[in-house]
Amino acid sequence: MLTLFSNAKINLYLEIIGSRPDGFHELVMVMQSVALADRITLRPIKAPNISIECDHPLVPTDSTNLAYKAVSLLQKRFPNRTNQRGGVEIKIEKKIPVGAGLAGGSSNAAAALFGLDVLWDLGLTRVELQELGAELGSDVPFCLVGGCAIATGRGEAIDSIPNPPKLHTVLAKYTSLSVSTPWAYKTYRQQFDHTYKPLNELASLEERRSRLHSGPMVKAIGSHDTVAIGTHLSNDLEKVVLPAHPKVMQLKEVVQTIAAQHNGIGTMMSGSGPTVFALIETAEQAQAISNAVRQTIDDPDLQIYTAEFTSRGISHH
Ligand code: C5P
Repeated sequence: MLTLFSNAKINLYLEIIGSRPDGFHELVMVMQSVALADRITLRPIKAPNISIECDHPLVPTDSTNLAYKAVSLLQKRFPNRTNQRGGVEIKIEKKIPVGAGLAGGSSNAAAALFGLDVLWDLGLTRVELQELGAELGSDVPFCLVGGCAIATGRGEAIDSIPNPPKLHTVLAKYTSLSVSTPWAYKTYRQQFDHTYKPLNELASLEERRSRLHSGPMVKAIGSHDTVAIGTHLSNDLEKVVLPAHPKVMQLKEVVQTIAAQHNGIGTMMSGSGPTVFALIETAEQAQAISNAVRQTIDDPDLQIYTAEFTSRGISHH
């Protein structure tokens, strides 16, 4: 049996560049793991079955669960191991909100891949694990690596950024409000495809990728310039998700105002949302912002978490 913790991520930067031949969007992102984790327990069983147990009612426990898909992918890829070792029971204890833009499902899949590699002695390299992860979802490769990274392509091509500052976050999300990632990208395409770069301008894609590598956000992270990190927070998906969900727009305004009163670094929506996060220097400030948001928005549907940056996607404890 193996127990792992799979961390959530936030996007410090998310830029949509254009359409890819595979139907996905070409992205440039900066992602950061935060210490808000689901607990994943993998128990090998004799029968070649996969079973999922989860304490959150909205997480599917059938073959559509990303952790199920991760095990199924390894069973197909390694039929001899499956014959020898059989199947796996997976227990998921959810802390990361669902449908939140925090890569909760992707991080569970990453933990299942990582864990089964250990339990089945597969000896997969980091690159092999990331390639398998990319078949499951665009964010899975990042969740395997964790820390702070530039993600390009569909989001699956990861370049780690060493030694980022250890900041703290306040994360706020309405429990009953989830955003579908395919909806967010589809809506963005409908409204903004006139801004997309044509596919034959691959050089310019490369140029933009390298601009990000040497760009202001990555520089700000490298030099621990928290003011510049705050200035360069950006997420193109806010342009479609915030207008469609006025409650999230208001939540962002409240969090932004309160964070600013506590020397906040910046406030942004993560991924396809609807989680809004504020960045701050200390755990005490994060708690103070969390308390003040809670006092301002007296709604039991609002979930608020504090979590610090962490250098890992998956951890044993
Ligand atoms: O890869 P993942 O399964 O997380 O993607 C979910 C959906 O988000 C895709 O089906 C696609 O509609 C959209 N997406 C995209 N471009 C990306 C990543 C995701 O259009 N780079």
